[in-house]
Amino acid sequence: MGSAIPVIVGRRTAECADVVVLDLVRADGLPLDSWSPGSHIDLLLDIGAEAPLPRQYSLCGDVGDGTRWRIAVLREQSGRGGSAHIHDHLHEGAATAVRGPRNNFPLEPAPEYLFIAGGIGITPLLPMIAEAERTGTPWRLYYGGRTRTRMAFAEPLATTHPDRVTLIPQDEHGLPDIDAIVRTAAATTAVYCCGPAGLLDAVESTCRTAGRRPPHLERFAPKARKSDETADGEFEVELVRTGVTCTIPPGRSILQVAEEAGADVFGSCLEGICGTCETTVLDGTPDHRDSVLPDGAEGTMMICVSRAASRRLVLDL
Ligand code: FES
Repeated sequence: MGSAIPVIVGRRTAECADVVVLDLVRADGLPLDSWSPGSHIDLLLDIGAEAPLPRQYSLCGDVGDGTRWRIAVLREQSGRGGSAHIHDHLHEGAATAVRGPRNNFPLEPAPEYLFIAGGIGITPLLPMIAEAERTGTPWRLYYGGRTRTRMAFAEPLATTHPDRVTLIPQDEHGLPDIDAIVRTAAATTAVYCCGPAGLLDAVESTCRTAGRRPPHLERFAPKARKSDETADGEFEVELVRTGVTCTIPPGRSILQVAEEAGADVFGSCLEGICGTCETTVLDGTPDHRDSVLPDGAEGTMMICVSRAASRRLVLDL
């Protein structure tokens, strides 16, 4: 994702209960890199630890605006402290740093889009909706949340696109009926979903049962694994560029061991959800345990969580 870029909070607004919107501008006044709908950045938080704490946020502003990157941050009551730090310390004028952008959730051309959002999962879908509007591609959005007042961007979306947007506040309508929603879409409609794990799993299994193409999903938390997928055996990894072969013991990741061996590796989320540590596999069979790559992915792996299904892996590291 490149090196850290110093930025300043140029503008901060309260979007709805517990959600703030930050417009980040470069501290040196230069333009920011271009990005595409579905991209995220790493916000590098100085929480007093030895190294900055990286947290991933989807870009939700205007792709054509090179002067600022917009993110929306939900204060997570049971989070690990990153979002609370942002809410409490990143006021207008505060300095911080970012890395990126990176896109694991690109908007692919399709005759029509079905967008399904849960809570703060609306953020990556906002620039997708803008892009669909720009290209004149038909779309629909079903957006669920606990209550109307806690659903970021809900009102402007529903007001601007009353025929395309269906809001489903849980306290008024219950949980979204994913089966019925997916049934409304033609077989060629591309389905994009972002939100809590339960919603993503429901959309994924509904599409599978209906014989549809897999949906495009963006996860904020690692996908649940079956217990037989989580056993950690020992295996060998040859790091071609570094010129060493390492043993990866149970309980340690390839990324940790490779870093100690002097390989030029980089991780951010360390949970298999951001895609930062994606590494080319030259030989051997990975045991994919990330939540980014599609099932059966070949050629690359996320070395922060994935392991080996063969005795040895050869990596371009
Ligand atoms: S560090 Fe995020 S996927 Fe590996």
